[in-house]
Amino acid sequence: MDFPMIKELSNPIIKTLISSLRDKQTDALRFRHIVKEITRLLLNEALSNTELISQSVDTWRGEEVHKVLDEQNLIVVTVLRAGMPMLESVMEMLPNITGGFLAIKRDESTHKSVLYYDRLPDCKGKKVIIVDVMLATGGSLCDAIKIVKEKEASEIISLNIIGAPEGLKSVQESYPEVDIFISQIDEKLNENKFIIPGLGDAGDREYNTPE
Ligand code: PRP
Repeated sequence: MDFPMIKELSNPIIKTLISSLRDKQTDALRFRHIVKEITRLLLNEALSNTELISQSVDTWRGEEVHKVLDEQNLIVVTVLRAGMPMLESVMEMLPNITGGFLAIKRDESTHKSVLYYDRLPDCKGKKVIIVDVMLATGGSLCDAIKIVKEKEASEIISLNIIGAPEGLKSVQESYPEVDIFISQIDEKLNENKFIIPGLGDAGDREYNTPE
């Protein structure tokens, strides 16, 4: 698959964690924990080439200047519900960045995403990291990108746990400037637009709601 702006982070640890997510016996607590662990790996990759700034640090030898990420320039935006543990994970690693929320729900009869609520900080000139577990048709991510773009972010990237080629293609065609870091690209979508093999409904798996 040739998606220049899409990086699939396939490695033995991620594959093992994804297989645990697919396991129906994995309970909600463990499911959310794994999502958070994979998010750390995705974030690490996504920010690996970010330019650092100098910051004064009060060290054991006195005041020194050291390199840090410019957390004031970063915003993490979660797509509820499933993306919630991903936002937690990013903010545990980078506690000074700003969080934003988009409540987007896919209508399961039309398969179209619907925005119910948005609570975003000022994104102007900032790098925005959108996080969501699943990228199926790509509708939810396209909606999220559109909203963030309207708020004049300087750069947008997306972290996703699992996706389908159809959705990735659709997002890339609409927003070729958005880099997507994803841990697993699955085979396809079925007739109900569920990812195959997938992991079931990530929001339901995370929060013990019936499928
Ligand atoms: C799921 C998932 C994504 C979206 C992906 O959420 O978490 O947000 O569907 O589908 P798409 O790429 O076809 O838009 P859902 O709408 O089921 O809401 P939930 O997180 O509350 O379960």
